[in-house]
Amino acid sequence: MAAAGKLSVLAIMVLIIATISNSVSADPDLLQDVCVADLNNAVKMNGFACKPTFNASDFFFAGLAKPALTNSLMGSNVTAANVMQIPGLNTLGVSLARIDYAPGGLNPPHTHPRATEIIFVLYGELDVGFITTANVLVSKSIKQGDIFTFPKGLVHFQKNNGKVPATVIAAFDSQLPGVQVIAASLFTATTPVPENVLTLAFQIGPKEVQKIESKLAPKKS
Ligand SMILES: *[C@@H]1O[C@H](CO)[C@@H](O)[C@H](O)[C@H]1NC(C)=O
Ligand SMILES: *[C@@H]1O[C@H](CO)[C@@H](O)[C@H](O)[C@H]1NC(C)=O
Repeated sequence: MAAAGKLSVLAIMVLIIATISNSVSADPDLLQDVCVADLNNAVKMNGFACKPTFNASDFFFAGLAKPALTNSLMGSNVTAANVMQIPGLNTLGVSLARIDYAPGGLNPPHTHPRATEIIFVLYGELDVGFITTANVLVSKSIKQGDIFTFPKGLVHFQKNNGKVPATVIAAFDSQLPGVQVIAASLFTATTPVPENVLTLAFQIGPKEVQKIESKLAPKKS
């Protein structure tokens, strides 16, 4: 009896430790110095296969140096600097982005399923917020030099209510944070979400669903 009791206590402790160590970091830890992503390799795994050779250019990206165009519908533009642009980030568990906002621009409510985000305001002022699973909005106005954090997986947004453009640098604890923009996910999915799901979920009519769909539809060029 006593031995069995000790064993089950041990089993519970192992379970707790395993749970904690799995949930502390975002991307899995690396097993070697580098594993530069071979983005064209057909092998599918958690991350990308490693290239046999690499050099400094696999760890380099100049794409965040300049502001991006912000004349889109939302008046914002996210320029990613993740493993897709910087193959050397594969297995390293970090990435960046630059977000530019026109006056009035919005980075609409979205989530990153694989990363916490921390932003640093380069220029301008923003009203930012995230919503907890208890449905509480945590929000603040931030300005040049300020930092704000969006916890992993929670819905969040940034709005430029100022009269001048704004820019932030965003850091993520994932090589590829992933993004789901709430409105676009629901109203512009390939194979549309059934209309009766949207009418009931949002308590609106079919005409309103079609109106939102046509306004959010990606522009065909
Ligand atoms: C890295 O290797 C690629 C070819 O694989 C080459 O085009 C590039 O110039 C090299 N860059 C550096 C910084 O050595
Ligand atoms: C974002 O900026 C880039 C570079 O200026 C531009 O090519 C792209 O069309 C812009 N995207 C949107 C959604 O405005």
